[in-house]
Amino acid sequence: SIPIFTTVSSYREWRRRAYDERKSVGFVATMGALHEGHLSLVRRSLAENDLTVLSIFVNPAQFAPHEDLATYPRTLPQDLELLTAQSLSIAHPSSPDTSVTRKASALFLPTVSEMYPSGITQDVGVQKGTFVEVKGYGHQMEGKSRPTFFRGVATVVTKLFNAIEPTNTYFGQKDIQQALLLRRLCRDLLLSHPDPDHLHIVPTARDPADGLALSSRNAYLSKDGRKFATTLYEALRAAQSAWDEGFSKAECVAKAVQVIETKKAKVKSDGLTVDMRLDYVELNNAEDFEVLGVQETRRGNDPVILSGALWVDKTRLIDNIILGDA
Ligand code: PAJ
Repeated sequence: SIPIFTTVSSYREWRRRAYDERKSVGFVATMGALHEGHLSLVRRSLAENDLTVLSIFVNPAQFAPHEDLATYPRTLPQDLELLTAQSLSIAHPSSPDTSVTRKASALFLPTVSEMYPSGITQDVGVQKGTFVEVKGYGHQMEGKSRPTFFRGVATVVTKLFNAIEPTNTYFGQKDIQQALLLRRLCRDLLLSHPDPDHLHIVPTARDPADGLALSSRNAYLSKDGRKFATTLYEALRAAQSAWDEGFSKAECVAKAVQVIETKKAKVKSDGLTVDMRLDYVELNNAEDFEVLGVQETRRGNDPVILSGALWVDKTRLIDNIILGDA
């Protein structure tokens, strides 16, 4: 069975052996409640590294006091089953006509006090200790709705990188701002484990039936809520078509809003009580996350992030599409 490390020092012994044996270590950071999206990162890591480590840590610092820290799904037994069931056959390094099977090598499962030796409170105003902020990249899009979120993410992921010392690490496009901000963090802090070029972004895994982006928070949805949860992706795709056809940002956002309004009307005519509220749909430059001007249109293939957040009852769903060349 897979070794589980709950302390940094016990993990480090394992890591030292990997260095001695010149083995590469791939790392997938998660908050658990694993689904096919997380597992797609694991499989990418299995394919590209000798060893693969996954962490599960529900990070208090990235939840605001009013958010869902207490109710965030915790499903460790099931996570362990899903993780240990992942395997990948690769050609044997010395006799390529035979194959070897790779599986995840270790699970890092730290306690809150292990990750926050100075303690942690969700109230930023009274926090003590060391925090990491990627200035200029965490206040737009998700950061506009969740102003302390990226500070919490950057802080915990810096700690995880320092503990795990990954050769490669894998993040999902599902949280595109998070992935790009963390790549910048690696560059700005001159990290070598991982080096910024070894932070890889993996495409969003979606429900094959209707395209809903997989998320641990989808577990919060009611049966009727789940039926309408694809509204955000449908709205983003409408905006994407408009963008490709040369419409302005304002027109693209209007198309997205129109899709959501149509779905709200459908909820009503079906006699259901699904409450959908748009948080935002926005188009941002993929380089610096600057908001595009309302009149801006597609210019060549400059990469643009089309992203949004939609409340479905008490569940906040996010999704994004990269327009142009990523
Ligand atoms: P969590 O939401 O558990 O996600 C862990 C990783 O899985 C992230 O890189 C996320 O982008 C990726 N992921 C989630 N859903 C995905 C999907 N449908 N397709 C592809 N990848 C997906 O993101 C976090 O945890 C935390 O902020 C963390 C980075 C662990 C720091 O606490």
